[in-house]
Parts: sequence; C-alpha cells; structure tokens
Amino acid sequence: MQTLNNKRILLGVTGGIAAYKSAELVRRLQDQGAQVRVVMTSSATEFITPMTMQALSGNPVHLDLLDTETESVMGHIELARWADLVLVAPATADFIARLAGGRGDDLLTTLCLAAECKMAIAPAMNQAMWAKAATQQNCSALQSRNIAILGPAEGLQACGETGEGRLLEVDSIVTATANLFTSGLLAGKHVVITAGPTREAIDPVRYITNHSSGKQGYALATAAIEAGARVTLVSGPTNLSPPDRVTFIPVVSAHDMLQAVIDAVPDADIFIGVAAVADYRPVSARTQKIKKSGESSSITLELTETQDIVAHVANSGKRPFTVGFAAETENLVEYAKKKREKKNLDMLIANNVADQEIGFNSDRNRTTVFWHDRILELPLMSKAAVSSRIIELVAESLGTQGR
Ligand code: C5P
Repeated sequence: MQTLNNKRILLGVTGGIAAYKSAELVRRLQDQGAQVRVVMTSSATEFITPMTMQALSGNPVHLDLLDTETESVMGHIELARWADLVLVAPATADFIARLAGGRGDDLLTTLCLAAECKMAIAPAMNQAMWAKAATQQNCSALQSRNIAILGPAEGLQACGETGEGRLLEVDSIVTATANLFTSGLLAGKHVVITAGPTREAIDPVRYITNHSSGKQGYALATAAIEAGARVTLVSGPTNLSPPDRVTFIPVVSAHDMLQAVIDAVPDADIFIGVAAVADYRPVSARTQKIKKSGESSSITLELTETQDIVAHVANSGKRPFTVGFAAETENLVEYAKKKREKKNLDMLIANNVADQEIGFNSDRNRTTVFWHDRILELPLMSKAAVSSRIIELVAESLGTQGR
C-alpha cells in the first residue's frame, strides 16, 4: 500500500551539505504515491543542481520569486495552494530563523507564508548550531505554529563532529511525512460517505445526471481513512479509483444509493452525504429507446422527486452524526442555514458552485461550515486539505456531543 497516495508535496531544499539527499527523497516520496514539486533556495543550488531535481521530480524546479518562466508555468501563490504539504528538507539554521521570523525574502519563505496546508521541516546542521538557543527557540516557535519538526538525527557529521544535527534518514522522513497525514482522530468509528452523481434512466440509452466529479467525496473518504476510521463509500458513477482500504459500493441511481445507505448506516457513527443526488427522476424509465415521432418537435418528460437520502438518515431512529453538503449558486448563507435546519443535519458544508475557481470538477474548494449555533468560513484549499479540515471538525463536534 502506498502511504502518500496522491498527496501533493512541495519539497523545499535549502543550502546544506545534506541537500544531495533530497534527490533520493523525491524518489522515495514518489514511490509512496506522492506528486512532488521542488523549490530550491539559491544556496541549495550550490550543493545540487536544479536539473537533477527537475529530472527526478518530473516538474520544473522553482528557484526565484521573479523568475517569469517558472512563474508562468505555476505562480508562487498557485504553488502554495497546490500543496497538501510543504516539506523543507534539509532545513538550514538560517532558513529556520527566516521562517520563524515570518520573512518573505525569497521564493521558499514567501511560499511558506502563503501556504495554508500542513508544513514540516527536517533540520540539518552542525551539532553546535542545532544546540544553540537561537535555533532551539526558533524551532519551538515553529512547533507552536503547528509546523512539524522531523529529526534531526544523531551521528557523525559532514564537518567531522559527532552529535545531534544530521538530516533524518530519507526513509524515516518518508515515514514521518506519511504519519503527518494520519491522526487517529476517528479511530474505531465507522463513517459512511456518499459521493459522485446519480444517473436516472429515461430509457435504456439515456439518463439525467449532473456535473459532480466525485472528487470531494473521495477526498473525504481518504481523509476519514487517514483519521483511522472504517469507511464505506457509496458512489455514483465517476472516473475515479476508490481510495485504498474503503469498502466501496458502486451504485447508479438515487434509489440504489438510498438502498445501499440504508444497508450501511445501522452501525455507522458518522454519515456524510457528499453525493449530488438527483432531486428528480423520470416517473418511469421506458423499456425501449424513445424514438423521434416526426409528428411533434417536443416531448414531455414527467419527473418525480427522489427520496432525500441525507434527510432520511438524519431523521432515522438511532441516527449517526449526520453531515450534508450544499452546492449553491446564490444566497449561500441563507440557503445553507435553512437547508441544515430542514434536513435536521448536525453539520452542513456549503460551497458556491457559480465560482469558477471551485466546485464540481475543480481540485480546489472554498467552503463554509454551518452548525446550529455557529458558522465557519474555510479558505480556498485543495479538496484534500478541505477534507482533512472537515474530518477534524467532525471529530471535534462528535467529541463535544459526547458520542
Ligand atoms: O437539497 P440539496 O440537494 O441541495 O441538498 C444537498 C445535500 O443533500 C447533500 O448532502 C446531498 O448529498 C443530499 N441529498 C440527498 N438525497 C437527495 C438530494 C440531496 O442525500 N435526494
């Protein structure tokens, strides 16, 4: 099993002798399924060439804030948004000091300032530099800002001294990186998630559907797995492969989805309805293909409402903690509040699909979370980062309900 499947890692390389190990690190992260993009400081290029890192990562290496060529491929803010994790390995004492000071004086520090995803650094320096109060205080400041410090290791150093300050072994960095994505927050919980669109047959060759790609639901299933949950993913037709370790139940219509959910929820602790379930289906699907009659230029399709799956779950006897999604095109706050209340949901996550930057087929999402007593706006993030955040919020809410 790949422990970093589809994770987007922005690898920052700073200028220390251990920089040569970052080439191996790119490969090992990729072996675990990660996509890797590399940013190097100018001093890192004295130790290892951008060409090497470019060839290994398969992507242009980003060096300079003002480099129009790489900025035109992917600008620095876009890069920061792309990442699920910014990992700086090796991180020198100088870089750590600049990060702790909130500087934005080169591309890497600017990216770190702009990034809203997880961050980690793997320090590498002489043992005396590592032991210095300034470095230790800087690292404590970073830890208090939720930046993970991986290592350093102890041993013989490039300068000939022995002590703490060596870059953690590459395999250990990869394991620690994978652990950053697993939390145990939902250990022992069973989470049922619906995802994707549904297809409502008109006749044997035609159907009614919508633009849902399934990306958000599948990302949530991955985040729930990473939080230690057992996950059942009930999915309408999508082009995505089911995440590792989920119990996958493929369905086609809203009716099939409802049946699969009814079977799966009795022992569920959490139900998250992400699917864009058809609200209406043809009253009866024709058994033969509808032919053009030649007599009239229009036909009438009679539709009937489907059953609301998330509301059914939320109003069932021994209900799980129930979360719904709402794709709106206007009056988001007003509609979302009403929808949460009407469907009797514990939480509702709303996004504005009229916004071109986010929504159905996009890899990013900007969402607002509604509870009965509060609202929280989340910034624009990758669907993976949104999912981890939502899972944290679900775990928090479950905790406060004493479940
Ligand atoms: O009312 P609307 O379709 O906007 O509500 C969206 C939420 O309701 C989503 O969580 C979606 O999965 C759920 N839903 C459902 N069954 C339906 C329609 C919507 O579970 N038939």
